[in-house]
Amino acid sequence: MQTRSDPFRLDGRIALVTGGASGIGEATVKELARAGAEVWIADLNFPAAESLAASIPSARALHLDVTSPESIAAALAQLEFLDILVNNAGIGHVGSIETTEPEDFDRVMNVNVRSVYLVTRAFLPLLLAVDQRHDSVGTIVNVASVSGLVGIRQRFLLHQQRRHCRHDAPARRRIPQNATRQRRLSRHRTNALRRGLPRQIPQAQ
Ligand SMILES: NC(=O)c1ccc[n+]([C@@H]2O[C@H](COP(=O)([O-])OP(=O)(O)OC[C@H]3O[C@@H](n4cnc5c(N)ncnc54)[C@H](O)[C@@H]3O)[C@@H](O)[C@H]2O)c1
Repeated sequence: MQTRSDPFRLDGRIALVTGGASGIGEATVKELARAGAEVWIADLNFPAAESLAASIPSARALHLDVTSPESIAAALAQLEFLDILVNNAGIGHVGSIETTEPEDFDRVMNVNVRSVYLVTRAFLPLLLAVDQRHDSVGTIVNVASVSGLVGIRQRFLLHQQRRHCRHDAPARRRIPQNATRQRRLSRHRTNALRRGLPRQIPQAQ
């Protein structure tokens, strides 16, 4: 039941959080479950996903490598419905343009950017079917970064993947936004969440 003190309810909704076994993904899983959603914890680290799922009655672990179309297809085959997709899985890389090697560039772009295209594309049919089950729309939430807005030392790759943010929407938002625009825009919602820096820290090290 929705109350003034707890207006955020997701009872009956089914969510999937990539990289949901730790960090921001884990916190997202817990919040979605607290709000009443059933949550798939989809992570490359399956033991960690299982361990977290064991502590949340409405959560289930799912093995998923967001860089692998085969792994994504196998994960998709386990789901019948999906209301909320959270593209959260990501890796970091510390380095300037001089110290970032092409392999580093490809690895980070694969996990942090290409994955959003692969995962969203695969799960889009389930998200588009949401309004057949209830009076709602499928929702895509992409965890982006404040690095699209401010400079952070030794984070060359973070700026590359999120550079569109200054003038436009960041890459992590643009991929699914573009996908849904070409389909049925009115039946979808796409958000990008930029984890921010505390106001009192003018520049991260
Ligand atoms: N923590 C920060 O300061 C910060 C800042 C800006 C943006 N972000 C973004 O937030 C998101 C989460 O960051 P975090 O700090 O919680 O990271 P984290 O390292 O704590 O968690 C990332 C999770 O993703 C999983 N993962 C990694 N590669 C995967 C793959 N190929 N397939 C499936 N799962 C995979 C890991 O197993 C892990 O559980 C990332 O997209 C990151 O870029 C984080």
